[in-house]
Amino acid sequence: MSEETLSNLLKEDRRFEPPAELAAAANLKEEAYARAAEDREGFWAEQAERLTWSKKWDQVLDWSNPPFAKWYVGGELNAAYNCVDRHVEAGNGDKVAIHWVGEPVDDKRSITYAELQAEVSQAANALTDLGVGAGDRVAIYMPMIPEAIVTMLACARIGAPHTVVFGGFSSDALASRVVDCQAKVVVTADGGYRRGAPSALKPAVDEARAKAAERDGHTVEKVLVVKRTGQEVDWDDSVDVWWHDSVAKAPTEHQWRAFDSEHPLYVMYTSGTTGKPKGILHTTGGYLTGCAYTHWAVFDLKPETDVYWCTADIGWVTGHSYIVYGPLANGATQVLYEGTPDSPEKGRWWQVIEEYCVTIFYTAPTAIRSFMKQGREIPDARDLSSLRVLGSVGEPINPEAYVWYREVIGGDRTPVVDTWWQTETGAIMISPLPGVTAGKPGSAMIPIPGVSADVVTEEGESVPNGSGGYLVLTEPWPSMLRTIWGDDQRFKDTYWSRYADQGWYFAGDGAKKDTDGDLWVLGRVDDVMNVSGHRLSTTEIESALVSHPKVAEAAVVGAKDEDTGQAVCAFVILRDEAGDGGDDIVEELRNHVRKEIGAIAKPRQVMVVPELPKTRSGKIMRRLLRDVAEHREVGDVTTLADSTVMDLISGKLTSGK
Ligand code: WTA
Repeated sequence: MSEETLSNLLKEDRRFEPPAELAAAANLKEEAYARAAEDREGFWAEQAERLTWSKKWDQVLDWSNPPFAKWYVGGELNAAYNCVDRHVEAGNGDKVAIHWVGEPVDDKRSITYAELQAEVSQAANALTDLGVGAGDRVAIYMPMIPEAIVTMLACARIGAPHTVVFGGFSSDALASRVVDCQAKVVVTADGGYRRGAPSALKPAVDEARAKAAERDGHTVEKVLVVKRTGQEVDWDDSVDVWWHDSVAKAPTEHQWRAFDSEHPLYVMYTSGTTGKPKGILHTTGGYLTGCAYTHWAVFDLKPETDVYWCTADIGWVTGHSYIVYGPLANGATQVLYEGTPDSPEKGRWWQVIEEYCVTIFYTAPTAIRSFMKQGREIPDARDLSSLRVLGSVGEPINPEAYVWYREVIGGDRTPVVDTWWQTETGAIMISPLPGVTAGKPGSAMIPIPGVSADVVTEEGESVPNGSGGYLVLTEPWPSMLRTIWGDDQRFKDTYWSRYADQGWYFAGDGAKKDTDGDLWVLGRVDDVMNVSGHRLSTTEIESALVSHPKVAEAAVVGAKDEDTGQAVCAFVILRDEAGDGGDDIVEELRNHVRKEIGAIAKPRQVMVVPELPKTRSGKIMRRLLRDVAEHREVGDVTTLADSTVMDLISGKLTSGK
């Protein structure tokens, strides 16, 4: 973010006080901050009491071997029991857990907690029959259908860590994740609906299975397939199993058992600064505590009356923490929507809010900006008066989008909670509290009670108010990642080495403290881009580009984009034998990235250039390329090995060839 945008941001002086009624009845009040600060572990012990433990812990936190934390040491519980069965036992079996809304209009189904219990039990029985036991990994590659949640919970129930791979990822991306965590079984569907049309999933699983076997000698034993769209699929009887032939016929009762608090719950792959995605490991007790507490506190959840809706995909951490584990642990009623916001019509989301009287709504700034563009007439045509709390996640929310969200969607009544967190943190870390905080558009404000964060210099000094630096978390928290799957060293190097002396977690984000000491998260300080709230690694896309036979070298930068926050811009040098690459080279390379990684990684722009700007030690100077991509005057070039390179690049681009 440029200094100019930054100072504009910090001039933002609008404040929105919490509504009096909400404040009076708020779940978490001002005094929680002091209480948590006085006795952090005691506070976190209280939060863990939200869950039902089969065996209580002996110690809240074991931090004797940092950065490897253990929370609720000695405690035992079952995550699925906590998310489902206990609500049935408490007499809430008839309460709706999920109002599922399919993309095709009128394709919908409401599922009670008792029904969910039966389905999760069936899936747990079926997975056990397929040979899945505690500790085995299960990959999930599914559309937004209830079976996806059922599968995640069934895995948790039998202690088999799941790894959900976003359905928009390519077979290559799926294969590398399946191999990295050595998944035994993959659960998928024939396809899902995307913008009114069936879009296939099973073929990517077939390809990924073949790639895993050929390239890495890894065997996926079984593929469990939900029939969603009814489209044609290839079938291998020795591997493929239909959901309706197995799960749907399995007994609806399943005896769960308790697992250790530190038993692995899931692995979620996310982009890092190298081409290889990192498998972020979350475990059971601390993670579930973090999700339940934050979902209750930050959204002020009243499970008896609220209807909650988070629009994330189950393939991202937001879907894990704030569709599956948080809301269900809290016994909430929620909406789950399968499709895109504009299908079959632009106002589909607002129609869903009206129909189900949604009270709490959680989405991403990118979506809000696209609705702003479409104009307020569309949401204005619907009754959105049920809404009482709005949330934002995934990227910095610009003040205009915040204010529009609050006014147009929230009828100028609802607090907006701008929630900062990461796949690694497992749960929300920095956010306003809707009944306490006077919100500032664009600021995530301060860490929630129980969490400690700071903004510090390179040397580890806390910056004064009014200054910027690196965002760190200064104390361990229950839902923190435990390691990177199979790579403890990378875990230490990535997050804990920069401030090793202080023992702080380095988040990889830049942030600024305003004059009141409130935090403004500015974005990544590493080679990770944030496109529409999705994390992408520059190196991963560069690797995809150089895997194309015509490409010799590639450099990728995230350039500012009005709609998507950042956009992928690629600079490529072609191989000599490729000549000028042909007329369609740009489209060819864009589609190549799409095929290699997935549609979200497809570059907005590909620029064929004669050279790339490099330092004498050979490091690509992305800063200069970003200047080009953002149409700025190119900055300081004195550290370039060849300072004329930028002229060559700019010259080539202006000549249009
Ligand atoms: C960014 C998504 C500003 C940030 C939950 C972080 C945000 C990365 C916000 C994590 C926010 C997330 N304000 N930036 N409210 N929320 N980010 O792992 O750069 O997909 O490091 O987790 O998104 O992305 P991830």
